[in-house]
Amino acid sequence: MSKITTDIQEAVDYLEKGNIVAIPTETVYGLAANAENNDAIRQVFEIKQRPLNHPLILHISQDWDLMRWVSFVPNYARILMDHFWPGPLTLVMKTNENQNPLITGGQDTIAIRCPNHPSTQQLLNKLNFPLVAPSANPFGKISPTTAKHVQESFKQETLLILEGGRCQVGIESTIIDATNPETYQILREGIINETDIQRVLPNLSSRTQNQIRVPGKLASHYQPEKPLLYFSSIEILNSIDKKYANELYLISFDRISSHLSPYFFLLPDSPTQAAFELYYRLRQADQSQAKAIAIQLPPQGEVWQAITERIQKAGSSFELNALSEFLA
Ligand code: TXA
Ligand code: MG
Repeated sequence: MSKITTDIQEAVDYLEKGNIVAIPTETVYGLAANAENNDAIRQVFEIKQRPLNHPLILHISQDWDLMRWVSFVPNYARILMDHFWPGPLTLVMKTNENQNPLITGGQDTIAIRCPNHPSTQQLLNKLNFPLVAPSANPFGKISPTTAKHVQESFKQETLLILEGGRCQVGIESTIIDATNPETYQILREGIINETDIQRVLPNLSSRTQNQIRVPGKLASHYQPEKPLLYFSSIEILNSIDKKYANELYLISFDRISSHLSPYFFLLPDSPTQAAFELYYRLRQADQSQAKAIAIQLPPQGEVWQAITERIQKAGSSFELNALSEFLA
């Protein structure tokens, strides 16, 4: 079983020896390796069972010189870093030559982020190398937001997990393509959304065309163990609560009229608070005796996009036929 520690020096020693350490960040826990040690990086892919062509995010400390990894930083990217780092924003930029293909997936771009978590900041400051850190979950599964989740996700491993409490953001960072000198593009929605970015970059419009390859952008992702079905209407919510109260774990934004199900969580109506709860509550649903999980999609609108996207990739659209199959 993996060991949970609060000892930052122990994590430093592990990483320096080329071992893997699960680290807390403000978004989700990451499975970290020395970015300058290929054996260590390979271990991360192996533990996660992640295909080798999925590039990794480099985690750095705020005052490190980006030009070690990047050949060109657009002005707007500097502004975004000044404004949002340390924080839940990843920037994809052009690399200088000879970057490690294990990190970049063989592309000429690299994703970099400066996480806003005191323990991980301290850890990075004690290291003289950056960390690659994909989310600390088996490939395609739900990301962990507590040290215990990491332990449960990798029952067979003997990892070191740095305890950092519950992740305050709760979903993965927003990823922005900053390879174009003039315009940016959001590649993965997160809690920092288009409006937040526009506020900081009022004179810049984002590209809508997807020109960049995002190998991690799969149709299915973030999956809990139990079947997950999503729906929108309050009518479906009330009818499934009546019919399947003891079999389904219900997670919703609307209140249920009668509320028969013993398995129920009402999501908060603010996007940041709902993001904080989403994975945590899906894990709780997974641990319950319910046979399947049904979750209501958030309201329409840009501020909800990150959550909507994650739910849609984690589950499938609610259909009675599918449900009967899961409950059979
Ligand atoms: O919040 C987060 O970003 C967390 C924490 C641990 O920092 N990390 C995380 O990493 O979500 P991961 O590996 O689970 O997701 C990284 C995503 C993948 O979809 C990957 O394909 C994409 O970033 N990515 C990495 N490098 C890229 C690049 N050069 N170009 C385009 N996409 C890239
Ligand atoms: Mg991930």
